[in-house]
Amino acid sequence: MDCLWIEGGKRLSGTLEVPSSKNAALPLMCLSLMTSAPVSLEALPAVADIESMRALLKDLGAEEAAPGQFQTKNIRSIRADYEIVRKMRASILVLGPLLAREGRAEVSLPGGCNIGDRPIDIHLEGLREMGAKIEIEGGYIFASASRLKGCHFSLPFPTVTGSINLMMAASLAEGVSHFENMAQEPEVTEVAHALKAMGAKIEGEGTAQLRIEGVSQLSGLNWRVPPDRIQLLTYLAAAAITGGEIRCRPYDQSSLGAVIQKFKDMSCQVEERREEMLSRVGNLHSTHSQLWQGAKAREYLEVSLSADSLKATDIETAPFPGFPTDAQAQFMACLSIADGSSQIHETVFENRFQHVSELKRMGAQIKLNAAVATIKGVKGLSGASVMASDLRASASLVLAGLAAKGKTQVLRVYHLDRGYENIEENLQGLGARIWRAPQ
Ligand code: UD1
Repeated sequence: MDCLWIEGGKRLSGTLEVPSSKNAALPLMCLSLMTSAPVSLEALPAVADIESMRALLKDLGAEEAAPGQFQTKNIRSIRADYEIVRKMRASILVLGPLLAREGRAEVSLPGGCNIGDRPIDIHLEGLREMGAKIEIEGGYIFASASRLKGCHFSLPFPTVTGSINLMMAASLAEGVSHFENMAQEPEVTEVAHALKAMGAKIEGEGTAQLRIEGVSQLSGLNWRVPPDRIQLLTYLAAAAITGGEIRCRPYDQSSLGAVIQKFKDMSCQVEERREEMLSRVGNLHSTHSQLWQGAKAREYLEVSLSADSLKATDIETAPFPGFPTDAQAQFMACLSIADGSSQIHETVFENRFQHVSELKRMGAQIKLNAAVATIKGVKGLSGASVMASDLRASASLVLAGLAAKGKTQVLRVYHLDRGYENIEENLQGLGARIWRAPQ
């Protein structure tokens, strides 16, 4: 097991090429279960969750001729075992595709995790509305349907992976489905665009209402995984917390929702550059231009952020386009040294404050009252040994370490490796003193 060491106090500066999005790549990979034609994904991120999904897809019958070149001529197995699902909850994304293509699926129940109970009742309720018979036995979901049927379903909560599962299932169902209160996160829209490029008939993508007319089969796909909005904002937060100045590209303006305004509220200067970036993107990706088809409205920019001192601000997490729960921990690290008192209200997950006790060990003054954290900004943090508990909590501890006086050791860094690609190298490139060592 590895840990990260950080010697804090360096102001970050420089330019970052934003890695691709894990949360977009995972469902895009699952699309290869929905067709016997090749599904070719460019720029798959090199993170642990992608490796887990790769292993699961291969178990189910996918072949990968070269990195990112998937083809599932036949489904070999319909069972996603607990061994893999417990490592990565997003394994539930194979449920919709298996059921739609093969008429059967057996997927281990993911169970709870550090940030909450995380039920999947909405995924199952939606599939039942499509005519699936679903039973739970021995910790597994057993789902079957000779062919799924179109339905009307209003999601009780706009779950991200639930929306994607239902969208994938409805694309191969018989008849028309109408969904309301679907998640509008950019990753959901991305999958809708990719499905349409495969021949799915989806209307309303990017909104809460989707109309999907099922087709009997889908064709193959050539797609490029988009940049990761959560990694991007983590690096912007790294610049903010160290009083630094960085430029990041490519940046999809429509993907950050409420976050840019919150950086501004903390008194960071944020600038977006359009023309300059468009020409650069043209150079970067001109050989792959065909891969961008389908996501036609996508326009990449460059964003730069600089900060001197930070000001307190209040945050409430919410489904997109609200402030993302996946950015809550990183902003809490920043607010712990901001001038004044801030409140963070976590409304998406019931237990997503594991980083609080660790930030407090570094000198942060945070009081927790149920789903609300009150953060009284302090002049500075001090390095300590701290324990990562989940993916984004780990990122907040790294950020705190970058700003702290002295050395910080972040233990259980495997949480971070699930979703951050080359984080030490990227931060080193921006001037941070950070290195990995055996724990
Ligand atoms: C996805 C993201 C994760 C992000 C989260 C919220 C991936 C792989 N992961 O996770 O990074 O933090 O969205 O933006 O894309 N819920 C139910 N019943 C359900 C499903 C969800 O009650 O059937 C609840 C959950 O317990 C949670 C809330 O809905 O409180 C949001 O969960 P959801 O959007 O499903 O998160 P994921 O899709 O698992």
